[in-house]
Amino acid sequence: MSDTLASAGFGAQKIAWAAHHMPLLNALREELSVERPFDGMRIALSIHLEAKTACLAMLLRDCGAEVAVTGSNPLSTQDDVAQALATEDGIHVFARHGVNEEEYTEHLLAVLDRRPHMILDDGGDLVAQLLAAPPEELLGGCEETTTGVSRLRALHRDGRLPFPMFAVNDARMKHLFDNRYGTGQSVWDAIMRSTNRLLAGARVVVAGYGWCGRGIALRAAGLGARVTVCEVDPVRAVEARMDGFDVAPVAEAVRTAQFLVTATGCEDVVGEDALRDAADGLMLANAGHFNVEVPVTTLARLATSRCEPRPGIVEYTLENGRRLLLLGEGRLVNLVLGDGHPIEIMDISFAVQTLTLCHLLARSPLAPGVYDVPSEIDRRIARMKLDSLGLHIDSLSEQQQRYLDAA
Ligand code: NAI
Repeated sequence: MSDTLASAGFGAQKIAWAAHHMPLLNALREELSVERPFDGMRIALSIHLEAKTACLAMLLRDCGAEVAVTGSNPLSTQDDVAQALATEDGIHVFARHGVNEEEYTEHLLAVLDRRPHMILDDGGDLVAQLLAAPPEELLGGCEETTTGVSRLRALHRDGRLPFPMFAVNDARMKHLFDNRYGTGQSVWDAIMRSTNRLLAGARVVVAGYGWCGRGIALRAAGLGARVTVCEVDPVRAVEARMDGFDVAPVAEAVRTAQFLVTATGCEDVVGEDALRDAADGLMLANAGHFNVEVPVTTLARLATSRCEPRPGIVEYTLENGRRLLLLGEGRLVNLVLGDGHPIEIMDISFAVQTLTLCHLLARSPLAPGVYDVPSEIDRRIARMKLDSLGLHIDSLSEQQQRYLDAA
């Protein structure tokens, strides 16, 4: 067997494993592969290409769509999964692990060349390529992550967003679980498997106490770490304090830390002075969408030497002799050095994506803008999730409903 075929075989196994643990997508497949809402539709995806994403692409295909997929980060594509997915009918794959900027853009353009009716973006790179000349057929799309939604809102404010996009990240069934528990677990999974270091008793700094940061801090504390949170929003800093964490500026916190994780969506979260003063052996990891939170070029400039002590980890030695270790080139650590969010989390997020695409199609044509996911979709998916867990909840009586409506 050729290497490619063997690799595709392993990719297919990974996809099958993920599919087995995705009750919501499987329930949607049962219903929607009969209704086939996407018959005749072309859908383009730019998303971290690993096993769970492959399951989403296959579901959309099974619902009638012709699907084109590319990655949303140069280092998060898993080649074996991409190869396995490329063997599927009705799915076109343009992605490879380790592409350079030019190839990354070529792949975005290749999925857009297929003239999609709908897009699913993760971070806003696909939308950025569409601004100048969106295809006539384009009805709009969905955005998966916080940074992508911020970019969309900025475009819309400037009058530059030419089509409707749904802010899937802002749906409650997305960020409450994906950003918090998905990032919380997968960031530490990736850091632990790539470093093999102990968290119990370690000092951990989490920069950003938004949905991702809360999850990352919570899980670090659960593993026995002593956690300091760094924030720029005073309300969130108070929240972190009352959740039981120390609060300090980054430059102060890194002086005694063993691990730092950024999850802010902002650039240069760790400044040059903070890098110089950081504790010897500090491991720097980023969970934010872009590789701008830990300033990699500054780090390289400050270093007198560098080596790679383990795969995916670069150790920089500064003039003062201190060593700083950068994980996954400062890109999303949970996707670059791990498998991304747990399967059950992406099952929920991708159920939101699928039903939102159905909603977009049903409501089209919509004016350009950034739209909220309707709360009925959140509630429907929450009920599906409860069903899959065998859980039941109370419901309001008519009298209770009247009481609440009158309040
Ligand atoms: P969020 O908006 O809920 O939280 C970001 C927090 O960072 C805010 O509280 C903000 O005040 C704080 N912040 C901003 N600049 C800061 C700075 N310089 N220093 C300290 N704190 C600062 O955003 P969310 O949902 O937590 O997402 C954060 C980033 O993670 C985004 O880039 C998002 O796209 C990405 N993301 C990554 C995932 C992954 O799998 N690694 C999953 C979901 C989101």
